[in-house]
Amino acid sequence: GTTAALIPAAGSGSRLGRGPKAFVEVRGQSLLARSVAALRPLVDEVVVALPEGMELPPGLDARAIVGGATRQDSVARLLRATSAEYVLIHDAARPFLPENVVLDLLEAVHESGAATLALPVADTLVRAEAGGNWGDLTPREGLWAVQTPQAFRRELILKAHAQAVTGGFAATDDAGLVARLLKAVGNGRVRLVPGDARLFKVTTPGDLALAEALAAVWDG
Ligand code: CTP
Ligand code: MG
Repeated sequence: GTTAALIPAAGSGSRLGRGPKAFVEVRGQSLLARSVAALRPLVDEVVVALPEGMELPPGLDARAIVGGATRQDSVARLLRATSAEYVLIHDAARPFLPENVVLDLLEAVHESGAATLALPVADTLVRAEAGGNWGDLTPREGLWAVQTPQAFRRELILKAHAQAVTGGFAATDDAGLVARLLKAVGNGRVRLVPGDARLFKVTTPGDLALAEALAAVWDG
């Protein structure tokens, strides 16, 4: 079946404080351009959701639509903008995509219909008490930190989004919506596919410094 890469890139980047994050450049290339270049050879088409009034920078082999007020809304609009059988959803805020893990993800979605990249948690986890004090330890065994890209049969993720609208619940994560739907119907699972530390999300100025350092190696 055909596969579309869908890139929500319509956020304002408020925590980074450098304007819409997808357009922020790391060593001369925007976060968005890096994601499009990595995904384009692996899929049939790339569709990007942009902030209202912004245009796709020249040289990107992708189609642009206007995003929504929330990430979930931007993804819903992207889902309506393609007719591909499979969709791979990837945040523009994660500019470093090792090809091998994306290929692993595509293999998993073809087998099971829903899959996400994720990494086993390595840090000790603690729930803070009021006042910023140490509360209870949370055992990290069996815990994974979820990344993007995530991939689904388009029919399945469409249903999950429709259920979220009907039920009035919001999610920052599409795999979470699909898992909720699959649980309700009692059939199917979202596969966890080992991701890569380099797929970290650029959220804060500290992350941007990390991205600058990694880009020096990544770009050769
Ligand atoms: N996103 C989107 N539409 C929105 C909000 C977010 O397409 N209305 C996208 C962002 O562009 C980003 C991804 O969703 O690629 C993950 O969101 P996040 O890291 O939170 O980015 P921003 O919302 O831009 O940043 P912030 O929350 O700091 O403002
Ligand atoms: Mg945000």
